[in-house]
Amino acid sequence: MTIQHVHARRIWDSRGRPTVEVEVVNQDGTSGIGIAPAGASRGTREAVELRDGGTRLGGLDVQQALRGIEREIAPQLLGRAAADQAGIDALLLALDGTPHKARLGGNATIATSLAVLHAAAAQARQPLWQYLAQGRPVRLPLPQVQIFGGGAHAGRRVDVQDFMVIATGATSFGEAMEMTAEVYRAAGELMAQRGSLAGVADEGGWWPSFSRNEEALDALVAAIEKAGYTPGTDVAIALDIAASEFGSGRRYRLALENQDLDSNALCERLVRWVERYPIVSIEDPLAEDDEPGLVALTRAVGDRVQVVGDDYLVTSADRVRRAAGLGACNCVLIKPNQAGTVTETLAALQAARERGYATIVSARSGETEDVAIVHLATGWNAGQLKVGSFARSERMAKWNEGIRIESRAGAPAGFWGRQSLAGSPGGA
Ligand code: PGA
Ligand code: ZN
Repeated sequence: MTIQHVHARRIWDSRGRPTVEVEVVNQDGTSGIGIAPAGASRGTREAVELRDGGTRLGGLDVQQALRGIEREIAPQLLGRAAADQAGIDALLLALDGTPHKARLGGNATIATSLAVLHAAAAQARQPLWQYLAQGRPVRLPLPQVQIFGGGAHAGRRVDVQDFMVIATGATSFGEAMEMTAEVYRAAGELMAQRGSLAGVADEGGWWPSFSRNEEALDALVAAIEKAGYTPGTDVAIALDIAASEFGSGRRYRLALENQDLDSNALCERLVRWVERYPIVSIEDPLAEDDEPGLVALTRAVGDRVQVVGDDYLVTSADRVRRAAGLGACNCVLIKPNQAGTVTETLAALQAARERGYATIVSARSGETEDVAIVHLATGWNAGQLKVGSFARSERMAKWNEGIRIESRAGAPAGFWGRQSLAGSPGGA
């Protein structure tokens, strides 16, 4: 059974920007749709997002990417089996011919690759998570959910990009969602009481109106308590510092506090936060070019806290192996569009697993109604899932899909819970 049609079209993401959708139709009439998400705080080594440039639509249109799919990719896919993911992804790589998919665009390749994957699952008459699990037992992932959104997602109102919670006391995905909902609501009420409720940031977290980064941490602890939970036991804190956004050359500028810090000083600041607050996970604590800083922080707190590489590791198996050799980070953020194909994404996840690193499958700040990553996180048994906040339908569609997977007959029996966290007691 082989691929009969490939359609590429422009759709719109959660920021109202153009993005690439690909539909792959098999001979038997089954089909699959893949959509490219888009980041705002990107690592420099990510697969390149091909945008048209110029003035129309802010230069963000994707007509070139669509043309590449129609003229170069589609003719090569016709007659091939959708089940041959590795073969098709290798073909995409070869067709592009550049190290970072700059010619055809990582947005074109990931949308195509995901569409092929969905089409293969549809042909096998299985939900995607089940198709990926191939009969192996899997568990629902532990969610990381944003409560305050900052950095590049909130006009740089605070320096830290994501203030998140992890329901470490939850025993099911559904329960984690309910606990998160309570904390999200409590945080909104707290902001309203302080007269600082100002809508939401790009991923649905409350817009941060704080005068220091620590104030956001204090507010988060207060929200967890207000919701009736014990911070650190029931609900813990996860941060995405996204330090590449405010630092390079081992120098950092905390705009909110009007401070310039070198790598050591930022490291010390983060260690202090880890000591003072119930933090269990900290992503991109230092900039992607500050490898010594990442090694130093991992050495300092990696036995207690999950240290996650996003911009630094860019979902690359080679980068993960390099980091493992140095002792930088103990967890890998897995974003399919950073890699550009499903096969390379899986290779990064497997490299992480081989080195004993934990994994978090993650959405981007520019998303759509697409719920594929929930299936990837479950079917690949990644352990953790990060899709943004607890508001806005491009986020809620994904959380709700997790609930559906958990509740359907024939669903995975278990839930990862806190043991999926690297560095935590009883963790990975
Ligand atoms: P991005 O950020 O999708 O805007 O790049 C998300 C993250 O840093 O995890
Ligand atoms: Zn990040």
